Amino acid sequence: MNELESPLRAALADKRVNRIDDLHVVTDRLDYPAIDQVFPLFAEQQFFLDELARDRIRGAEVLEIGLGSGVLSIGAARAGARRVTALEINPRAKIFAGFNAMMNGVADRIAIVDGDERLFLPVAGRRFDYVMSNPPFEPTPPGMQYFHHSAAGPYGLDFLEKLFVGLDAHLTDGGHAQIVTAAPGDAKTPTFLLDLVQKHLRGSTRIVQNPFTMTFDVIMDRLAGKNMGTVEQVDGLREMARRDGATHVHLCMIHYDLGPTCLKVEPSKKTYTDYWDLPAEEITLQSK
Ligand SMILES: C[S@@+](CC[C@H](N)C(=O)[O-])C[C@H]1O[C@@H](n2cnc3c(N)ncnc32)[C@H](O)[C@@H]1O
Repeated sequence: MNELESPLRAALADKRVNRIDDLHVVTDRLDYPAIDQVFPLFAEQQFFLDELARDRIRGAEVLEIGLGSGVLSIGAARAGARRVTALEINPRAKIFAGFNAMMNGVADRIAIVDGDERLFLPVAGRRFDYVMSNPPFEPTPPGMQYFHHSAAGPYGLDFLEKLFVGLDAHLTDGGHAQIVTAAPGDAKTPTFLLDLVQKHLRGSTRIVQNPFTMTFDVIMDRLAGKNMGTVEQVDGLREMARRDGATHVHLCMIHYDLGPTCLKVEPSKKTYTDYWDLPAEEITLQSK
């Protein structure tokens, strides 16, 4: 065994090394129990990388809000971004992302900066050519203790709403934003997302919707299974969703440009199924 192999093996023993496209990304395993879990890879990251506007990102000054393992910032840097400023509130995530950026050869183009609950505050007064985010979007009952990467208010839209509010002031002329989120609605349409776009976004929005959908109840069942809240909290949310007509949750990519107000919804070219089940390939160090 080479002298580097032993510390590397020890460091990775309780982690997950994922391959996504040509990237290698270390995350926590799904069973890491505390709220500072570093977000493992699901279909949403693949969806995001497939949807990167590569012509817009080449040479761009990029902002990511919610860096996590770094997977999206690394993808942007590898696609030719000039520099990525990446905000994160979870100290463990910053450590993982730094390691991952180095391992994928882009550490010199990613600046990791402390995030803030007033999202854009750490970059106040700055504008970017490409703003991107995979924000926390799991519906989370009030008072429930939940992962930093997922807690997003009762309909999973609280973080997204703050993002929308600050977006125009942080995009350059001709700049672009790309945001992936899950959003409640009826069986066919992410109605809650459309309402939010109409409320806050003055420019041109294109929503690419994954045809695969899940019921709100199934998502609540999964939440209940994680034991981070009480049965009453989860049931309270189910009841509220029934009242408000939130029957399904849709995985969507939002593409946004400054310019004339317009809103389009179209299906994604690819269907992303099983988006809770870690599709990224797992890599292990071979033992000799
Ligand atoms: C859904 S995860 C996405 C992580 C990564 N971008 C990915 O796609 O795998 C959301 C991330 O946002 C971070 N976050 C939560 N609140 C934040 C804030 N106010 N500012 C910056 N990052 C935040 C979480 O810690 C988490 O890492």
